[in-house]
Amino acid sequence: MEQFVCNECGKMHEVTATLWKCTCGGVLDIVKETPKVDPASWNQYPNSLWRYVATMPFEQGSDTWKSVTMGEGQSPLILLDAEAPNTYVKVDYMMPTLSFKDRGAAVLMAKAKELGAAKVIADSSGNAGTAIAAYAARCGIPCDIYLSDTTSPKKIAQVEAHGATIKEIHGSREDVAAAAQQAVAAENVFYASHVYNPYFYEGTKTYAYEIYEQLAETPDALIVPVGNGTLLLGAYYGFQELLANRLIERMPKIIAVQAENCAPLATAYRNGQQKAEAVANKGTLAEGIAIAAPARSKQILEAVRGTGGTFIEISEKEILTARQLLADKGFYVEVTSAINYAGYLAYRSAAEEKIVLPLCGAGIKSE
Ligand SMILES: Cc1ncc(COP(=O)(O)O)c(C=O)c1O
Ligand SMILES: [Zn+2]
Repeated sequence: MEQFVCNECGKMHEVTATLWKCTCGGVLDIVKETPKVDPASWNQYPNSLWRYVATMPFEQGSDTWKSVTMGEGQSPLILLDAEAPNTYVKVDYMMPTLSFKDRGAAVLMAKAKELGAAKVIADSSGNAGTAIAAYAARCGIPCDIYLSDTTSPKKIAQVEAHGATIKEIHGSREDVAAAAQQAVAAENVFYASHVYNPYFYEGTKTYAYEIYEQLAETPDALIVPVGNGTLLLGAYYGFQELLANRLIERMPKIIAVQAENCAPLATAYRNGQQKAEAVANKGTLAEGIAIAAPARSKQILEAVRGTGGTFIEISEKEILTARQLLADKGFYVEVTSAINYAGYLAYRSAAEEKIVLPLCGAGIKSE
């Protein structure tokens, strides 16, 4: 069985169903050898992100995922439009719960089931909550989801539909997380956190594996929205594993996009800091990435800097314009996801650069 290591102090921990952070408060990573990546083995699996299960830290021969999967992953990678022949969108809103969070939630809940979790608790700005609630239902594991009372009603309805117990908190996103963490401690249950639980990133890393297969070459740049960094870090880890296996020769640059009104990571990047300091969230339409104090800021900044990438900050007006421009091309995304396209428009690159941007969440989620 693999172990956890603290990203802050280096302390090792046994993996249990209830451990989610170090005694020093640091975030945990999974200790594992770089997985052997064998593309020749992938076709024996159904067409989903489980093609890559052999690279994930499950017990040898474990097939828990077979009863958990809803066919998530293998989202289309298509040209944005004929006028931009090197720009691709990865349509991750075509997932069972209509956002990319299914990647992490499916893998995390399969792990929760393998570890024998009797109940899970999660907190979310909306999409991770809907994904965890859906896969918890799939696993038959009771689930409480902590949400702010300002969460989009569509997302609340989606969580409710899966039979999860909703805990509405009046307060900031950080207050919501604190309430969930208190409950996890009081009830001694599995914290299905997309932020803290490192198994979530074993799911989001499949974003990179899929691009590798679909594009058949390494993109020059990935435009990635970032709040807590679950897609950003997953994409980074996935491409790192492909690089370590010599399947690709270089890392794509990670171009991270934040809302101007809540941009702790972009600020830290600009100031040359190793970690982000908490900012005051001035309020942004990009509710999914309005994270004032991202717990994995050190890792996110390292990933962006390590790939020669950068941060881009986007105004509220640009978000709305971008949403309409995408709809004009036929793509209806939720407001948070429009920031990715605004980031792409703001990122001035050479025309021949191959760029991939994700369409993370479906438009009907934010009406
Ligand atoms: C639509 C959408 N895009 C992007 C993100 C950003 O993900 P993260 O906070 O993991 O960086 C989220 C997170 O909830 C989201 O819902
Ligand atoms: Zn520690």
